[in-house]
Amino acid sequence: MRTRNVTLLMLVLGLLYTVMLAHAQNAPEASEKGKEVYEQSCAHCHGTEGRGDGSAAENLLPKPRDFTRGLYKIRSTESGQLPMDQDLFDIITIGMPGSSMPGWETSLSTDDRWEVVAYIKTFYDGFKESETPPRQINLEGKISYSEQSVETGKGLYVELGCVECHGNVGRGDGTSAPTLTDEWGFQTWPANLTQSWTFRGGGDTEAIFKRFIGGIAGSPMPAFEGDSFLHFGLTVAESKRLSELENKDEMTEAEEAESEKFYEKMDAAVDLALNRVEGIELTATEQQTYDDAMKVVYEKSWHLANYVKSLAPEKRPESAIGNNVLRSQYLQGGLPSMDDAAWETLQSKHFPLVGQIVIEPRQFNPTIDSVNVKSFYNDTEVAFLFTWDDRTHTTGDETDETTGQPLEDALAIQFPVKVPQGPTAPKPYFLWGGRLPVYLWHWKASAPEQVTEVTAKGVSNAEVQEAQGELQTQSVYTDGQYKLWVKRALKTEDKKDLQLEPGVFVPIAFSAWDGANGDVDTKRVMSSWYTFVLEPVPSSRRFVYPPLIAILSLGLLFGLRAVVQRRNA
Ligand code: HEC
Ligand code: HEC
Repeated sequence: MRTRNVTLLMLVLGLLYTVMLAHAQNAPEASEKGKEVYEQSCAHCHGTEGRGDGSAAENLLPKPRDFTRGLYKIRSTESGQLPMDQDLFDIITIGMPGSSMPGWETSLSTDDRWEVVAYIKTFYDGFKESETPPRQINLEGKISYSEQSVETGKGLYVELGCVECHGNVGRGDGTSAPTLTDEWGFQTWPANLTQSWTFRGGGDTEAIFKRFIGGIAGSPMPAFEGDSFLHFGLTVAESKRLSELENKDEMTEAEEAESEKFYEKMDAAVDLALNRVEGIELTATEQQTYDDAMKVVYEKSWHLANYVKSLAPEKRPESAIGNNVLRSQYLQGGLPSMDDAAWETLQSKHFPLVGQIVIEPRQFNPTIDSVNVKSFYNDTEVAFLFTWDDRTHTTGDETDETTGQPLEDALAIQFPVKVPQGPTAPKPYFLWGGRLPVYLWHWKASAPEQVTEVTAKGVSNAEVQEAQGELQTQSVYTDGQYKLWVKRALKTEDKKDLQLEPGVFVPIAFSAWDGANGDVDTKRVMSSWYTFVLEPVPSSRRFVYPPLIAILSLGLLFGLRAVVQRRNA
């Protein structure tokens, strides 16, 4: 009996393996089933004909992929090649972070996902016509992560011009950033390399490496080989020597001749790379020349990948929810100003922000991902330090076409006017209050040393408070990041202000505007309610309900997310 079961098991496993192997190479033939899955789950974004023009596409950026051109961003294949079936299957399974492309792992069966892979391939004849499988990127020779490799990568980041799009420290704020469009003419932003959780193809080192070598088809990001790679065809030493020569004010005749040799070598290598892309077969010696050139590219790309990896935290910081609420730390004496080193001793709390899509005007394509917050208080005052990434410094020189309002970067911090008494007491509506009013600190890039106090009972019912001036403010914008410092007395005379007391859990929420992304009014990114507390000095821990608050705010967050997803779908 036993042996029979084992044999049966092995047979089943063997069969499964064969099926998997078959799938690993090739999707099944296109079928009615694939069409059905596509029309049910994909067509409203990607369009019935696969042109990326479904009914939901209008509001989306990046646009849903147009499948008729055979251009795919996330591939394990070389530049100019089609993706492997497995690449398509994986992206459909996982989705594309930082875009509206969802992952289908839980909502479509494995078979359905393979069927739909086969179906989307029918939109582009190139898949049928190509006789050889796409050339895959060789991952052998990986250079593992080390400080030295990161250092080398950092040099290449500048040398190869990444900095022009991705900015000095990688926040996507390079000088070319606001000018980029994709293959279809739509605006596109360079990735913020410090937020690797927003990378379309994932943030691990191999994935990053593949994006350099294979390129991100359809996007302005170049594939780094051939004519887009500095000194392609030269060894590291030769490249160094050529840079030296090029930096001289005047070259001797011998030096001229030396550099000329280098240029000839480079031209020859680029020609080979181009021939190869066009499918022209290389002779054995040509192939060797090409391989030698690529070896340098591969090595440099591994260093670059290690450098990019070093720019972001290992994983997305946990959001300030649950037991992880924003706790203002008590300090005896004066509170630190914006640039004081004392802030370095605190870990910031991370508040994810999502596009506001409940009321018009909506933001379906947010560019601000989150705001990070730290806070100190003493016996009379509280100070906050807010930081958030924004690729552009926009101060209201341009106006929105429909509303006439200035387009500028801004941040609003929202509290209830009165703290709800207990964790189950109702909070004001998260979108700038309603029946229960909210108390706001509104900062705008056009007046960077000022925070305005506002009371609101809804987005169209916001009033600048008559009594202003209790707030001190400092701010700065550097390398794609805003830093804003605000200080206020714990208690004020103004009845419209929130009054603060240690140990009391206070709801807090955020809105942010990126002027260059067209954010204005309710077109913005925001959070639902989170929690903030002036952490009591250890002897006076009186309050015990943070877990309950946590559960409630989690509920709200998921509620908001559900709304977002439903709208997107
Ligand atoms: C809510 C809209 C939406 C739905 C529904 C949707 N997609 Fe997408 N899809 C997108 C967007 C947007 C992109 C492009 C993202 C980008 O370019 O960064 C995309 C990109 C893709 C890509 C290209 C990946 C690459 O490497 O470039 C594939 C393949 C894809 N989708 C397949 C599907 C399939 C199959 C379905 C249905 C099972 C589906 N999508 C459903 C929005 C959607
Ligand atoms: C001409 C501008 C430009 C240059 C130069 C450029 N990039 Fe990019 N990069 C982009 C854009 C645009 C995107 C977003 C692509 C998309 O998702 O459509 C991007 C995306 C990325 C990503 C994210 C990939 C993903 O999976 O989403 C990484 C990593 C990256 N670039 C690194 C680099 C490095 C390193 C260099 C230099 C070797 C570089 N880029 C050069 C414009 C550029």
